[in-house]
Amino acid sequence: MSAPEPASDPNLGPIVVSAEQIQTRVAELGAQITADYAGRTPLLVAVLKGAFVFMADLSRSIGLPVEFDFMAVSSYGSATKSSGVVRIVKDLDIDLSDRHVIIVEDIIDSGLTLQYLRKNLEARNPASVAVCALLLREGLQKQNLDLSYVGFKIPPDFVIGYGLDVAERYRNLPYVCTYVGD
Ligand code: IMP
Ligand code: MG
Repeated sequence: MSAPEPASDPNLGPIVVSAEQIQTRVAELGAQITADYAGRTPLLVAVLKGAFVFMADLSRSIGLPVEFDFMAVSSYGSATKSSGVVRIVKDLDIDLSDRHVIIVEDIIDSGLTLQYLRKNLEARNPASVAVCALLLREGLQKQNLDLSYVGFKIPPDFVIGYGLDVAERYRNLPYVCTYVGD
C-alpha cells in the first residue's frame, strides 16, 4: 500500500514504526488477548479519536466475541502537552458492571489521561480493567501505569500516523513517523 500523503510533504519525518511492523505486532497482541481472555467476551473501549485505527485492526486479530464502546476525552493541556485534567466529552453507552474491559489507547505519553480514565472506569464495577496501548513514549511516565499490552516503546519525538494526528491530519497514514513541522 502506498502512503496516502504526498511523499513530498515536508512535515513527514523518518518512519518510527513501519506498516509491516504494526501488522505483525497487532497480530501478536491479538493472539495474546485471545489466549488471556479465553471463554470471556471482552469489552474494548477505545479512546477517541486516536485509537480508532488501532482498535479496528486489533479487534480483527482477536479470535473471541468482543464488544466495542468509545469514549472521547479532552485534556485541558495544550495540543502537545497533557495536564492530567480531563473532561469526558463522550461517555460510554455500555454498562461496565461485571465486564472485562480493555482500554485501547494510541499512545501513552505522561500517562495522566490513562490514569484518569482507569480510575473513572474502575469506579463502575467492572470485573477487570486492562490496558492495551499501541505506543509507549519511553521515560516520561511519573507513575506505574500497569500496562498489560504494549505494541512499541518509542523515543520522545512527537509522532503522527495510524490514528495519531496533528490538527486532525495524518491519521490515515498506515505507518507511524515523526512530525517535523512546528
Ligand atoms: P498523556 O496524558 O500525556 O499520556 O497523553 C496521551 C494523549 O496525548 C494521547 O492519547 C494522544 O492523543 C496525545 N499524544 C501524545 N503524544 C502524541 C504524539 O506523539 N502524537 C500525537 N498525539 C499524541
Ligand atoms: Mg490528539
